[in-house]
Amino acid sequence: MAVVVFGSANVDISIDVRSLPKLGETKQGSDYRIGLGGKGLNQAVAASRLSHSLVQFIGAVGTDHFGSFLESELAALGVATSGIRRDPTRPTGMALIHVDRDGHNSITVSGGANLSWTTSHISDLAFDGTTVGLCQLETPFDVTVEILKRLSNADALTILDPAPIPEEAIDEIFPVVDILTPNQHEAERLLNRRILNSKEAVQGAIALVKRGGFKAVIITMGEQGVAYSENGTDGNWLPAFQVDTIDTVAAGDCFNGALAASIVNGVSFRESVVFAMAAAALSVTKEGASSSVPSLVEVQEFLANH
Ligand code: RIB
Repeated sequence: MAVVVFGSANVDISIDVRSLPKLGETKQGSDYRIGLGGKGLNQAVAASRLSHSLVQFIGAVGTDHFGSFLESELAALGVATSGIRRDPTRPTGMALIHVDRDGHNSITVSGGANLSWTTSHISDLAFDGTTVGLCQLETPFDVTVEILKRLSNADALTILDPAPIPEEAIDEIFPVVDILTPNQHEAERLLNRRILNSKEAVQGAIALVKRGGFKAVIITMGEQGVAYSENGTDGNWLPAFQVDTIDTVAAGDCFNGALAASIVNGVSFRESVVFAMAAAALSVTKEGASSSVPSLVEVQEFLANH
């Protein structure tokens, strides 16, 4: 398999509101939308839609109808779903999402089956022939570490999107990660300091490469841009593409899936970062999580015009 994504799968229920609800407040919103979500599943969709290669998703859903919905929709999108485990003890993961009129969001996740993983579930998994492995942190940490370890042992390039960032230190995962892709908030938590601008983001990327021994660190700073450092000796800043934002849900997932896709497509690291930025920029111009991932042609046309 060219790309393996291990992670969460959720049904996303989204409602548009003028502003995000405050404590104790009841808001009237739009009609709800139901879609495919979960950071892992979204990244698998992005990697599949934007690469020329086969992408496998490894995740857990319940034995309920939401689990069947996610599995069949994902298969229809061309992602290999043989790695999906149906867990009879937990419901399928669900996310309740509010999106305000500026495209910002708040998300509450009910992890359900995503949290049912134990290392015994993965004892038979082998990753020979995998080029890129991609993980996030919506699944149990010890299982994610073990998956990354096996991907690394199989000589796959490993990418970790440390989202959501846990309270506890995650340094023990660093030796099995090649590329770390925190957003601004996650990088601040990892470094225990504020990162407010491009200069601080570049310094943060360099510091993280040195601390974790990564091949590269990419800090995504939303509408500001992206800082990255390869091997820690220098850093770079790429300003964000300017687009009209409608919905930022899963922009980071689109970035990570697109990065994996571009690397597996044989593109250089720097150009892959630019490609991922373009894909993420396009994703915020559309509603939804997996449904907002652009096509390869859309990204290529966007890059040709910017
Ligand atoms: O990153 C966006 C995703 O986070 C949503 O699809 C939601 O399911 C949560 O996992």
